[in-house]
Amino acid sequence: MVELWEAIVGRRSVRAFTDKPIERHTLERLIAAAIWAPSGGNAQTWRFVAVTDPNRIRQIKMISPGLLGDPPALIVACQDMKEAARKGGKVGRDFLSIVDTGMAVQNLLLAAHAEGLGTCVVASFHRGAVKRLLTIPNGMEPLLIVTVGEPAEEPPAPPRDRNVLFFEVYDAG
Ligand SMILES: Cc1cc2nc3c(=O)[nH]c(=O)nc-3n(C[C@H](O)[C@H](O)[C@H](O)COP(=O)(O)O)c2cc1C
Repeated sequence: MVELWEAIVGRRSVRAFTDKPIERHTLERLIAAAIWAPSGGNAQTWRFVAVTDPNRIRQIKMISPGLLGDPPALIVACQDMKEAARKGGKVGRDFLSIVDTGMAVQNLLLAAHAEGLGTCVVASFHRGAVKRLLTIPNGMEPLLIVTVGEPAEEPPAPPRDRNVLFFEVYDAG
C-alpha cells in the first residue's frame, strides 16, 4: 500500500493509458473510497456512473474536449441536485454539492493511485450530451468525469506555487 504522503504528492493526471480492462470490483473499490469523503451535513448526494463499454466511452470522448487518451474506464461523478436542495437548501444545491463532489473525487484519485492506476479529472465536457448518453435523469447533474486506466506514461509533476500560506492575517503586500 502506498504511503499517504507519497499518494498525495505522487498522484498525477494521466492522459495516456494501456488498454488493460478495469475490473468491476476495482471500480467498486474506488467508489468505496469516494463515499468516505466528508460532505456538507453528511448529505452524500453524490452518485457515480462507471462506464467501461468501449463504444460508450468513444461517444463520450466525442463530446468531451478535455478527455484525452483512450481510458478503459470512466467514472462520471454526479450530484442529485434535488436531494442536495432538499437537504441543504440553496447553499446545499449551489455550493456544498460541488465541494462535496470534489472531495469524493479526490479520495477516488488517491485510491486509484494507491492501486497503481492512472486517473485524470475532466471538467470540459458537454453536460447535456453526457446526460442523454448515460440516461441521467433530470435533477441529476454530471459534474466531473474521471478517466481510469493503467498508466502508459509517467507525467512530470506540474509546478506548484508554494507561496499560498499566510499566518494569522492575509498579507496582500
Ligand atoms: C476541476 C478540475 C478540472 C479539470 N479538467 C481537466 C480537463 O478537462 N482535462 C484535462 O486534461 N485535465 C483536467 N484537469 C487536470 C488538471 O489539468 C491537473 O490536475 C493539473 O494540471 C495538475 O496536474 P496534476 O493533476 O498531475 O498534479 C482538471 C482538474 C481539476 C481539479
